[in-house]
Amino acid sequence: MQEGLSSVFLPFNFYISMISLIVAAAENNAIGKNNQLLWHLPNDLKFFKNTTWGMPVVMGRKTYESVNKPLPGRFNIVITRQADWKAEEVIVATDLTDALKKAGETNCKETFIIGGGEIYKQGIEIADKIYITRVHAVLDGDTFFPAIDEAKWALAASQDFAVDDKHAFAYSFQTWVKK
Ligand SMILES: NC(=O)c1ccc[n+]([C@@H]2O[C@H](COP(=O)([O-])OP(=O)(O)OC[C@H]3O[C@@H](n4cnc5c(N)ncnc54)[C@H](OP(=O)(O)O)[C@@H]3O)[C@@H](O)[C@H]2O)c1
Repeated sequence: MQEGLSSVFLPFNFYISMISLIVAAAENNAIGKNNQLLWHLPNDLKFFKNTTWGMPVVMGRKTYESVNKPLPGRFNIVITRQADWKAEEVIVATDLTDALKKAGETNCKETFIIGGGEIYKQGIEIADKIYITRVHAVLDGDTFFPAIDEAKWALAASQDFAVDDKHAFAYSFQTWVKK
């Protein structure tokens, strides 16, 4: 149990973790098309895996089905309105609030909202932090990350990477925190 207010005032089985969005988005905020990603960036996949390892990952049913298997080494929580939807090794949630409650029950220090567009739109309203890999290209997508409102969010860290033989686009790992 975490030290601090949550351990003092909340029932012992309810734990408030940090809520973070993690996403890769183009300059125009495109994140996907036809239920697929728009790029293959191995360093971003490594960053995603390292950052989320061991933690709860919350996603919409369409994002789950685009991967179609649980992410190993993480608590997979899938949000759907379908009462009978299920998948092996997946925790099913009826909405974002239910997903965050179930994520809290894992007692992990951070919960990651991992997409897609519909879930990011809901999640950005309540998140504490955004890890965004900004892909430096304007791309044709059908799904978008919400614009980051700089009145509400501050850029805390940014690291730039150039095109190389494994990465067709330049990209930046950025961390934004709620003001
Ligand atoms: N670039 C990135 O970092 C990244 C990350 C993740 C995903 N993506 C891309 O994003 C796209 C998928 O995003 P998407 O917006 O189409 O779908 P999504 O957000 O993954 O999932 C949408 C589904 O979630 C469920 N849902 C949403 N809001 C709900 C609520 N309030 N209560 C209960 N259920 C709710 C519904 O499932 P039911 O229809 O089953 O009820 C809905 O159809 C794909 O192209 C994927 O590749 C990109």
